[in-house]
Amino acid sequence: MAYQCIIVETRGPVGLVRLNRPQALNALNAQLMDELAKAIDVFEAEDAIGCIVVTGSEKAFAAGADIKEMQSKSYMDVYKEDFITRNWERVARCRKPVIAAVAGYALGGGCELAMMCDFILAGDNAKFGQPEINLGTIPGAGGTQRLTRFVGKSKAMEMCLTARMMDAEEAERSGLVSRIVPKDQLLDEAIKVATRISELSAPAVMIAKESVNRAYETTLAEGVRFERRIFHSTFSMADQKEGMQAFIDKRKPQFKNK
Ligand code: CAA
Repeated sequence: MAYQCIIVETRGPVGLVRLNRPQALNALNAQLMDELAKAIDVFEAEDAIGCIVVTGSEKAFAAGADIKEMQSKSYMDVYKEDFITRNWERVARCRKPVIAAVAGYALGGGCELAMMCDFILAGDNAKFGQPEINLGTIPGAGGTQRLTRFVGKSKAMEMCLTARMMDAEEAERSGLVSRIVPKDQLLDEAIKVATRISELSAPAVMIAKESVNRAYETTLAEGVRFERRIFHSTFSMADQKEGMQAFIDKRKPQFKNK
């Protein structure tokens, strides 16, 4: 597929997607989100890819859903096309790890897309926000839910009600991002982390991701029970035998992804 709104590359075992609508600060229109969903499909089907990085430019990860495209849509339009659900949630359903490398603006749908990824590495110029209230609407790609789980009610409520942006320092303090990296080193660092993940046992990585995500969907007791069972299941894996044997032998493990 020829992509027009994203640039898709592979860097060794890492699938890299760059959002690329510079004239609109990477505003997320239907074509871009269709292309992103397709790129995730391709990387997910490719055994040689162990981790995916989604990034934007130094000025903007994405300044939100495309306001010009959606302004005139009617209720029936958005309902019938299942706006957001149809193609945006593909990222959240990806079983391989997805890292968001965010520099510049991550606003509205841009912040929501970053939060659909497994973790966010932030450039030191990153700015996060849910400014939909300024447009007479509300976040529609999970912002009121995911942001609240990341940063708690008070900050999420203030951001959704006032459109206040959070800078990288505050985002790290609040648990929205895992780390801050100087913006000119952000992509290299994201690729480095993604490469490291790709060198591990792919099924163990997928299982760990599934288990952490379960924490958002269930009670503590059920979550721990889920973790225990899925932890037990790793003892059926050749990679668990190899990983522990390599530790005992003081050598690097040779994972076979099974
Ligand atoms: N949709 C469409 N176009 C957008 C856009 C968006 N979300 N954000 C920026 N652009 C366009 C601008 O219209 C402008 O295009 P023109 O040159 O053709 O006028 C271009 O990108 C550059 O933007 P600015 O001139 O505004 O750049 P700036 O540096 O002065 O300001 C900004 C940057 C503060 C991010 C500002 O562009 C802005 O406020 N953008 C909108 C942010 C927003 O409201 N996002 C939420 C969208 S709704 C949503 O996402 C719903 C949901 O939950 C799914």
